[in-house]
Amino acid sequence: MNNINSYISENRERFLNELIELLKIPSISADSAYKNDVLKTAEFVAESLTKAGCDTVEICKTEGYPIVYGEKIIDPNLPTVLVYGHYDVQPPDPLELWDSPPFEPVIKKTELHPEGAIYARGSCDDKGQMYMHVKALEFMTSTNQLPCNVKFMIEGEEEVGSVSLSTFVKENQEKLSNDVILISDTGMIAKDIPSITTGLRGLSYVEVEVTGPNRDLHSGLYGGAVANPINVLTKMIASLHDENNHITIPGFYDNVEELSAEERAEMAKAPFSLEEYKKALDIDAVYGEEGYSTNERNSIRPTLDVNGIWGGYTGEGAKTVIASKAYAKISMRLVPNQDWENITQLFKTHFESIAPDGVTVKVTPHHGGQGYVTPIDNIGYQAASKAYEQTFGKTPIPQRSGGSIPIVALFEEELKSKTILMGFGLNSDAIHSPNEHYGVFNYFKGIETIPYFFKHFTELSK
Ligand code: BES
Ligand code: MN
Ligand code: MN
Repeated sequence: MNNINSYISENRERFLNELIELLKIPSISADSAYKNDVLKTAEFVAESLTKAGCDTVEICKTEGYPIVYGEKIIDPNLPTVLVYGHYDVQPPDPLELWDSPPFEPVIKKTELHPEGAIYARGSCDDKGQMYMHVKALEFMTSTNQLPCNVKFMIEGEEEVGSVSLSTFVKENQEKLSNDVILISDTGMIAKDIPSITTGLRGLSYVEVEVTGPNRDLHSGLYGGAVANPINVLTKMIASLHDENNHITIPGFYDNVEELSAEERAEMAKAPFSLEEYKKALDIDAVYGEEGYSTNERNSIRPTLDVNGIWGGYTGEGAKTVIASKAYAKISMRLVPNQDWENITQLFKTHFESIAPDGVTVKVTPHHGGQGYVTPIDNIGYQAASKAYEQTFGKTPIPQRSGGSIPIVALFEEELKSKTILMGFGLNSDAIHSPNEHYGVFNYFKGIETIPYFFKHFTELSK
């Protein structure tokens, strides 16, 4: 790739400013109050693709938020890379924990990012990472170095389960046909340790509701004599793990892929410091399933976590009350071979079966998706590996991630192609949390590395 570094340095300010404009639009897909902003963001993305050199750009309507589709086909005989990303973001709350407002991006220098990091909701997940592809395309088209065909598919519902995208993919197989799918929506081990994500966990997300008496009661008059839904719910939740932190749902582990000793030994070679891990989170110990290391617990093992729990009186001061209802939102991260719909059913059956007399339990499934693993013996992986070697001077390490992008398994099923996860985020970027940020270094490194992927993939396809 000729002149990629000079192109970046000449356009540095503009590349940052454009991303900052994109980050100012609060495209929160979970909250319907932001509908117009989400739609505005789709338009921003569409315009940016046109400016970057796509020949056709469409804002494809769906039952939910639109999918922005763009393409530049230079020769039907050349390979086609399909870039996927998302323009929606997570809600920013709790707002009071942000040092600067989530939709007023600022660049701040930090110890880890002396070049600065962009603080805003979506800076890393996924607007910043998605926009690297738009700028990489701009570089390739404007310097006449696009070596193959490219398609873009940027959705606005990733953070809420990609419901419309599933339908879109199923209905547009021809339009979306490709030789490889490229995504930057994951992370890497460290700023100077490039890695390629080779696995994503699946997900089953459910909401539970425990109902006791038909109304809230005086906790003195009735306490001790009727089932308290909050007491019951917490007891039921606690019983979902045993003393070794194994999940107790019958059948939960039945299909879990067990890694061989060799594979686990290979994984353990990835650089990792437990001390730094604890220090970064200000905890004095890690916690998790017996018999597995921290990196195993957060990647190759399934988990169950309460994401939220509520009920009763949570206002100021004290109110003596037994609530009629208690609720929780529970996620289960799944590993290859666990089917999310089957797991959801196992959870429902089990959770209903452990409810004591005196309460009723309702389990409502939200969304979910299958896990994903990419083999490393394919040209997509090799092209990515060569690209990182060129821009980092190091061979990237394959690593399974604990996060989920459920649509990736569906891509493979429907479009029959492999996905390459070239993520440039860091665990410290605080995605989904207050003060999400994305290193300026990471942003530009991504823009620099992506064109090499296109180059090597095209060459390896010959
Ligand atoms: N980009 C993340 C997933 C991710 C982050 C994977 C870092 C690997 C490393 C994505 O936007 C996300 O947040 N996914 C959700 C699932 C979705 C169905 C809401 C998740 O993992 O919680
Ligand atoms: Mn994401
Ligand atoms: Mn996310």
